[in-house]
Amino acid sequence: GLVQPPPTAGRAMAAEVAEQPHRWERLLDRSGARDSDLARAVSLVQAYRPRFVLLVARGTSDHAALYAKYLFEILCGLPCGLVSPSTMTTYDATPAANGVLMVGVSQSGGSPDLVRSLEVGRARGALTLAVTNRADSPLARAAECHVDVLAGPERAVAATKSYTAQLLALYLLVDRLRGGTGAAAARLPEAGARVLDQEAHIARLAQRYRFASRLVCTGRGYSYPTAREAALKLMETSYVAAQAFSGADLLHGPLAMIDPQVPVMAVVAEGRGGDAMLPVLDRLTASGADILTVGRASAADRADATVVLPDDVPEELSPLLEILPFQTLARHLAIARGADPDRPRGLDKVTETL
Ligand code: M6R
Repeated sequence: GLVQPPPTAGRAMAAEVAEQPHRWERLLDRSGARDSDLARAVSLVQAYRPRFVLLVARGTSDHAALYAKYLFEILCGLPCGLVSPSTMTTYDATPAANGVLMVGVSQSGGSPDLVRSLEVGRARGALTLAVTNRADSPLARAAECHVDVLAGPERAVAATKSYTAQLLALYLLVDRLRGGTGAAAARLPEAGARVLDQEAHIARLAQRYRFASRLVCTGRGYSYPTAREAALKLMETSYVAAQAFSGADLLHGPLAMIDPQVPVMAVVAEGRGGDAMLPVLDRLTASGADILTVGRASAADRADATVVLPDDVPEELSPLLEILPFQTLARHLAIARGADPDRPRGLDKVTETL
């Protein structure tokens, strides 16, 4: 049988997940100030007029970077790429970076490979920006400007509140760059609290997936980073082999491995990305998949289980809400499987002292 984790298991993660709407509120308040770090970053980027954006990050922060890639490309029409820090560290590559906005995304701001990447980018002509949760971190110091995501200290190894704070900070940055006021984000804290209220339902779902050894997470467009981050949360806390695919890629091969033993968690937001998931859901149903949908209520009739999200935030902000049920599911699933989600096997949190 499964071992019983201690009663304190997952407490740090639970507290950090619960804090998120409050942290978003603070970031929204602060970002409105004329002298905020966000306002300074926006004016530097506007003066620099980048032609291309490069993002560097690892783990959860890399998923926030992937979200930012969609924002820059769709909302600003700026081509954008995720660059692997190893090109500039392991291989000592020095990419030409004139006209490039280079953004390092990191909770701790402590990874030496990101710091090195920003140093290389800056020396090669890029404008460098750090998006971190530590204003005094090496990454923040290495960059010409810094946006503090204001998530507060994060102790659990699994990043949760820092992720959604990164998403929001990156959204506010891109929205300002295209002349927006961030007004659409104002209703996020209240909508997030409504999602977190569904914990009892999600705890029951954890029982449903308790014995799954493999899982697939999928989503399209803005929801693809959610699928990636959901899979990472599930893997690191409950050790299930969770793989993420964009809904488009799923149909180009991986669909063949889907059977009723491999539950599929599909993010189906309101908007175009979610619309494009509907034919994917049909193909999954035809494969006999056990499907959980997270997002729009109308997807429920194509699913075996569902988590419905508020439908009153624009598609580009839905990733902030989409990840919340997965954070909660990952915690409950870990505990149901006898693990302590606050202490993933063999992992340590990156700290600013590294
Ligand atoms: O401090 P950073 O954001 O640079 O850390 C990056 C990753 O190490 C981190 O996100 C890691 O993947 C977390 N355990 C994910 O929950």
